[in-house]
Amino acid sequence: PLEKGWISTNFHQYQGFWISTMFLQATLSCQKHFQALDTDILLVTTPKSGTTWLKALTFALLNRNKYPNIHNNHPLLTTNPHVLVPFLEVDIYYDKDFVPDLKTLSLPRLFSTHIPYVLLPNSIKESSCKVVYLCRDPKDTFASLWHFSNKVRPQCSEPLPLEESFEKFCRGVCLFGPFWEHVLEYWKESLEKPEKVMFLKYEEMKVKPNFYLKKLAEFLGYPFSKEEESEGVVDAIVNLCSFEKLSNLEVNKTGKVGFGVENKDYFRRGQVGDWKNLLTVEMVEQLNTIVEEKLGKHGLNF
Ligand code: A3P
Repeated sequence: PLEKGWISTNFHQYQGFWISTMFLQATLSCQKHFQALDTDILLVTTPKSGTTWLKALTFALLNRNKYPNIHNNHPLLTTNPHVLVPFLEVDIYYDKDFVPDLKTLSLPRLFSTHIPYVLLPNSIKESSCKVVYLCRDPKDTFASLWHFSNKVRPQCSEPLPLEESFEKFCRGVCLFGPFWEHVLEYWKESLEKPEKVMFLKYEEMKVKPNFYLKKLAEFLGYPFSKEEESEGVVDAIVNLCSFEKLSNLEVNKTGKVGFGVENKDYFRRGQVGDWKNLLTVEMVEQLNTIVEEKLGKHGLNF
């Protein structure tokens, strides 16, 4: 089946997930060509769940010995996180006629993706590579997605009708949706294989970023030492990757990353609960009911 997507592209329903023509082709190319290494790290999100933040945190923690002077010459000060951590489907497998050689990348290789678990290349599932999934309250994810879509729609001055976009989101029609199916697959994998899939929540990370950065480092096999902690390395990474710091850097106020999205469009408010400024009471009730039915019964609450 085909649906008109938010950003005026056609969405196909493929193995239960809604994917635009361009991303479907990239997903299939990724499935075919990507060979995971045991040392690889894959960051997975649904769009607008905090990908940019997770990329920055993971890049900074993995490269902390390479760039000890975090306040002066760190790549995150001059480069957008999406450039430092490529998306499999956006940056690597977007061209069906060109398959890049990833063997020359330094280890551990760090990638990100929005691809649903069922559509991941087998080598990711079969190798010992690590998967980190970051999930966000669907009300905030929807709000963020709606604002983002309005910014990046080519030559459209009128905002997308909120009601129509919301109705589609509730039916599961959004990029890599249904949101709940995407989340659920990774949630189940994290319960079954906790050594392989780590499941994080945006809201919890906002409350205790240091705690979750340390957990993430342990999960990936790069734990912070006591000395590093007492020297303030964890604090420094959390500060460097904070919304306030990253969004105020010159590089993130100007410039573009893949597909012409402006760097500044990845930073809007970075808060929990901003849906209150967008959704009506009825919308909140409707979405809460769906989420309770789809995720609550599996022990996932927001
Ligand atoms: P809002 O639109 O609610 O502000 P993604 O990175 O997956 O595209 O998600 C974008 C959302 O994450 C936006 O949410 C954006 O502001 C927020 N974000 C970006 N950088 C962040 C950071 N360093 N810390 C927390 N949130 C961040």
